[in-house]
Amino acid sequence: MQYSDKVMEHFMNPRNVGEIDNPSGVGEVGNAKCGDIMKIYLDIDENQIIKDVKFKTFGCGSAIASSSMATELIKGKSIKEALELTNKAVAEALDGLPPVKMHCSVLAEQAIKSALLDYAKKNNLEIDELKDLEIDDDHHHDEISCHEE
Ligand code: FES
Repeated sequence: MQYSDKVMEHFMNPRNVGEIDNPSGVGEVGNAKCGDIMKIYLDIDENQIIKDVKFKTFGCGSAIASSSMATELIKGKSIKEALELTNKAVAEALDGLPPVKMHCSVLAEQAIKSALLDYAKKNNLEIDELKDLEIDDDHHHDEISCHEE
């Protein structure tokens, strides 16, 4: 399998690894097929700007590179901008992922959305973009689809 230099670089040298104490929102998603798990922590200020973001990913190299890139892409952005981040944008920023690895970038998009949903719930906010969000947060369950493209 051929990986771009950017994927390799973010895999070898991931940005924003870790946890945030008292996070504004936390999201955890998993993929049942590969068993990989991604957790995202957000620190959001009163102006709804993402001041800090950290991740922990128990997963393949593409999932680690996707989390690293996704956190870089939303850091310092508004929650509205973060909601617009798609897995395709993450993959493009990494100069592409092999087709069988696209689902790894889906994990990054979903983990961020799930963390934003957690933030919204904690603050009694309604976020229209998250109304129809379907997240496979029960990754120990057998029937979860893999979201492969
Ligand atoms: Fe599962 Fe990459 S193979 S996230």
